[in-house]
Amino acid sequence: MKDHFWRAISTDSIDTDYFPAIPLFMKTSGNYVLYKDAERQFTTADRSRMERTGTQFMYVRAGDMQEISKYLEEKLKDALSRDDIDSDRKAAILYQTSINYVIDVFEDPEEASNLDRSRTLVNHLMAFVATDAAALRSIGSIVNHNFYIFAHSAQVAALNLLAHDVLFNVDPDELTDVGVGSLLHDFGMTSLTGDLARKADSLADIEYYKLKRHAQQGYEDLKATNVYGDVALTVVRHHHERYDGDGYPAGLKGNNIPRSAQLSALCDTYSSLTLGKVKGQTKSHDEAVKLMLQESGKGFNPELLSRFVELVNARKE
Ligand SMILES: [Fe+2]
Ligand SMILES: [Fe+2]
Repeated sequence: MKDHFWRAISTDSIDTDYFPAIPLFMKTSGNYVLYKDAERQFTTADRSRMERTGTQFMYVRAGDMQEISKYLEEKLKDALSRDDIDSDRKAAILYQTSINYVIDVFEDPEEASNLDRSRTLVNHLMAFVATDAAALRSIGSIVNHNFYIFAHSAQVAALNLLAHDVLFNVDPDELTDVGVGSLLHDFGMTSLTGDLARKADSLADIEYYKLKRHAQQGYEDLKATNVYGDVALTVVRHHHERYDGDGYPAGLKGNNIPRSAQLSALCDTYSSLTLGKVKGQTKSHDEAVKLMLQESGKGFNPELLSRFVELVNARKE
């Protein structure tokens, strides 16, 4: 992504009080046009205008992203605790901040050794998904296909935290590990050469055999930093195992697949189907659930699958 000069920011995540002083651009007939300069604040009048014109994304220079990420991460706690910001806006800010984090790590893998940063984010995500029914619903609105893998990572983290909490009531330390592992579960894609990981479309099929390497690769790369716990590493390594033993990289079968990995596979699949790796192939919630149920006893543990489906059914729009 390094050569991408522009970054899309969901308009919903731009709050008048929670956005740093940087220029914002709009995309008009393929051109990026300055909307506001660094000096001017983004105001409520701007917000109304965006809503009126149905502008879902605005753009910033890639070089300004670091400042935005830093700013949002610092202000997150404050923003999430305010009563006058509605849930959908909070979710947008939180997911955009998570996506920015994942992008940073993918662009600069050294950033993966900064565990504090992902932990802090995961703690915010955790608190939000546990208490706010709007949390999962809202993520769909901030997805941009060019940023599939990043939005997907944030969604898998939110879902996986919720699933581990509601279905197994795991303790906070383990939950943090699950969230961190989920945010970075596809980290191994960064090691795949060329444009592979960048092209949303190619993720689906073309170089599939190469992609199969990403789980093991991500595990090895993250383990080498010496900062990740076992649960986080398990999520990264085994999120593509299948209940029938036909998954990868280890081909583990049945309940030999660690529970956190089984849940991660469910969240990963649900997110892949509903966010749509390939334009036009996005499935609705009902279609996704139907497809997943066909994998009962094959891709997924039947009991776990039915509990997961119950959970996402209860949380859908
Ligand atoms: Fe994956
Ligand atoms: Fe994934």
